[in-house]
Amino acid sequence: MTKNYSHEDLIAWDRAYLWHPFTHMKQYLDAEPLIIARGEGVRLQDTRGRWYYDGTSSIWLNVHGHCVPELNRALVEQLERVAHSTLLGMSNVPATLLAERLARLAPQGLTRVFYVDNGAGAVEAAIKIAAQFWANQGARTKHLVLGFHNNYHGDTLGAVGVSPDEMFHWPFTSLLPPHPRVPYPYPYRSTASDPLAESLGAVEETLRRRRDEIAAVIVEPVEGAGGIIVPPRGFLRGLRQLCHEYDALLIVDEVATGFGRTGPMFACHSEEVAPDLLCLGKGLSGGYLPIGATLATERIFEAFLGEVDSGRTFFHGHSYAGNPLGAAVSLANLELLEALLPRLPEKISRLSAWLRPLADEPFVGEVRHAGFMIGIELVKDRATKEGFAYRDQAGWKVALAASDRGLLVRPIGNVLIFMPPLGSTLEELREMTHILSEAFRATRDSLASLAKG
Ligand SMILES: Cc1ncc(COP(=O)(O)O)c(C=O)c1O
Repeated sequence: MTKNYSHEDLIAWDRAYLWHPFTHMKQYLDAEPLIIARGEGVRLQDTRGRWYYDGTSSIWLNVHGHCVPELNRALVEQLERVAHSTLLGMSNVPATLLAERLARLAPQGLTRVFYVDNGAGAVEAAIKIAAQFWANQGARTKHLVLGFHNNYHGDTLGAVGVSPDEMFHWPFTSLLPPHPRVPYPYPYRSTASDPLAESLGAVEETLRRRRDEIAAVIVEPVEGAGGIIVPPRGFLRGLRQLCHEYDALLIVDEVATGFGRTGPMFACHSEEVAPDLLCLGKGLSGGYLPIGATLATERIFEAFLGEVDSGRTFFHGHSYAGNPLGAAVSLANLELLEALLPRLPEKISRLSAWLRPLADEPFVGEVRHAGFMIGIELVKDRATKEGFAYRDQAGWKVALAASDRGLLVRPIGNVLIFMPPLGSTLEELREMTHILSEAFRATRDSLASLAKG
């Protein structure tokens, strides 16, 4: 990289040439951009020299922190062997080793690993595998995927098709297939006396009525981008049973929840559920490189075996699938993660205790968390649970106050999302939650004036 630039050059070039993902560019261009230059442990340093805790895990990816010697070493060693070779009709060493490791760590029966290079790609592959699984057996009408309102599965069209969001995806509605959707259990806002029963009841009713059309049910074990909504225990198990009963495959999207994010290696483990298809991404490489995977059972895999002209082959893939660098760093990440997992329960229970006082903040409706996935829902009025208007950007006010104090967090709508790296020490977690509390205290007055309208 050329060294011939200044902080001011970077600001000018960022403003002139970049179009940032999921970013209101008009507002972005009005403020000074935050440009990260390096990372160390669970902190990032910007081009002005200021350090910040990475309270988003760089958008839910980072596991052990930045610049981890073991991960760096794995990457460099692989780089000296080969950076990339294709997986189309042949294999490479790290992708093969990683497939064996994933099959061993995943819920039972998920023994086939189909590589992709991001989370949405893992979902796309799962949807297509589900539809073709039934088509290969002559059940061509079974091609729809039952999803849940507000679940998020990524931004490619297939993934959007099973999780369209009014605000994010309204321009694409006409491009999407008519996949059915039902409510996700959302205890804080549900009007049902039993949100779990309501949701499972809607799944059952839809599967019963449309058994011949529905190939699969797709679900997030914890609704991430929808606002860290933690369903009551028994949800995944209930879905597993219904899918068995009504001949639908169960696709669990663990792109966000996988790799220790909720405590166990996979959220499925906490209900001892084994899906038919499992979507993985984000934390797989520890937050180093874009790699994802769709894991399938042998039953599914076998439905794709046939003569070359049988039409059974899964003609799908990406040029960088099973990239050796991504696979090598993922293997090193999993090695460290297996050693880290036993230490997570203590970190999670301390984190939970440190977050508790935030629930008393005047504009906090609920603090939710599943392991290292934390959502703090802001409301104008705790009694009515009325949220702030989107244009108020209430969550951003708190996030900016946190960033001024050295913690990066990012809201989605009225939910402030806090996702520290799993490798954060207890002291670092304590410090991050302290900054969060300070940020809430500092924004009380401005939230109060927004609340008054
Ligand atoms: C549950 C879930 N699925 C899929 C995705 C998409 O992953 P990616 O951004 O790597 O395409 C995300 C991203 O946030 C996610 O949270």
